[in-house]
Amino acid sequence: RIAGPCVLVLFGVTGDLSRKKLLPAIYDLANRGLLPPGFGLVGFARRDWADQDFTQVAYDAVRTHARTPFREDVWRQLSEGVRFVPGEAHDDAAFDALVRTVRELDESRGTGGNYAFYLSLPPKLFPTVLTQLKRSGLAESSGDSWRRVVIEKPFGHDLASAQELNALVDDVFPPHSVFRIDHYLGKETVQNLLALRFSNTLFEPIWNRSYIDHVQITMAEDIGVGGRAGYYDGIGAARDVIQNHLLQLLALVAMEEPLSFTADAIRAEKVKALSAVQLPDDLATGTARGQYTAGWQGGAWVPGYLEEEGIPPNSTTETYAAMRLGVNTRRWAGVPFYLRTGKRLGRRVTEVALVFHRTANQVFDHVATANQGANSLVIRIQPDEGVTLRFGSKVPGTAMEVRDVSMDFSYGASFTETSPEAYERLILDVLIGDPPLFPHQEEVELSWRILDPVEEFWAKNGRPEPYPAGSWGPPSGHELLARDNRTWRRP
Ligand code: BG6
Repeated sequence: RIAGPCVLVLFGVTGDLSRKKLLPAIYDLANRGLLPPGFGLVGFARRDWADQDFTQVAYDAVRTHARTPFREDVWRQLSEGVRFVPGEAHDDAAFDALVRTVRELDESRGTGGNYAFYLSLPPKLFPTVLTQLKRSGLAESSGDSWRRVVIEKPFGHDLASAQELNALVDDVFPPHSVFRIDHYLGKETVQNLLALRFSNTLFEPIWNRSYIDHVQITMAEDIGVGGRAGYYDGIGAARDVIQNHLLQLLALVAMEEPLSFTADAIRAEKVKALSAVQLPDDLATGTARGQYTAGWQGGAWVPGYLEEEGIPPNSTTETYAAMRLGVNTRRWAGVPFYLRTGKRLGRRVTEVALVFHRTANQVFDHVATANQGANSLVIRIQPDEGVTLRFGSKVPGTAMEVRDVSMDFSYGASFTETSPEAYERLILDVLIGDPPLFPHQEEVELSWRILDPVEEFWAKNGRPEPYPAGSWGPPSGHELLARDNRTWRRP
């Protein structure tokens, strides 16, 4: 799978995402030989830069963040196709300059009139850029050439704004040209969920309510909001990652087998699963939210959310969110799916744990600690990628005592191949035009339908509960499971 000739126009090249992920991913793709010689990259931003300045920015980004080793020849080839156009999106003259640059690059690099537009921008700029793409004619393809647009989350703020955004995009690009990025779907371990479930016979017979007691989906981060106050405050943990990453994980765990690995077939099953999601009857006990306060983390004293630069001192934005969802299908009826995420938690870990029913009859003494005695299958999304099966085993000795042990698969020990970074995989898929790993608008809307009532409830009901940085979240997050006689796994 190698991309064909094309120009990638990157809006928002001065942002963090561009520097840390997108530019390095483009270089890594080139380094792995997955970009064609006829490839052009155009940056557009409100900076007084010339081509060389942007090339230097890209070079620094690549040297700092690329995953593959630096190779002078690869960089030279790539950088010959790098251009920069300064300006603001609402400025027709700047946009016309962009059109000229893209067309010039198209001719000089032989990119066949194929253009992808990557909108790594604050959503408030989407309408202007989309309108300009239409007005300038850039969005329109002719002959065999293609146009594609890549939209970074957030896809709206709630259902209504997501629909509005979609109407805007729809007006400029046909649905098959729209690629919505949820970078979790680009992760190797997330794709492996499908392989694990649908390429084995071992798991399917037990992947249901008869064997599974509940599911825990955890996305814990040790970082705080850092320099992202402007984006994060007013959005909060649930909109930031539950609406997209965690509900996508839930859909992949809960869905039925797709008829094939095509975008339409996968979407059909994810849509069914997301349509079946049920909120708890009582949102006060079935959800939890928190906000980190100062504390010790990784040996350092870190400030609380309200002390972070750019955060209003009375902010009620949650940095921790947890909820109990149901999936109302024959496979899952009665099985709670507990979702939790937070900043400044104990450590960085994302995992999906399927916790099985306990044996009906406990013949042996089970060493009793949290969740002991319940078999579990843990899909370790990151950072220690792999899968763990937890089960009871006799403790060596003269007593008949059982303790839980782990059987581990880890990527490092099993594969010599390295995983591409999520953005590498997704950018390549955009350039090839391969859509299975991109959420469809229908999934986006269903996710907002799930989250909107929770957000409305939270907005009317007080403040998030404080939790110290470095802990595993506020008491209400633990009570959410304790009420059901369960506990969160300690990753
Ligand atoms: C992003 C969120 O989507 O995912 C961030 O906006 C979060 O707040 C990030 O830090 C985490 O991504 P990853 O790949 O490090 O788990």
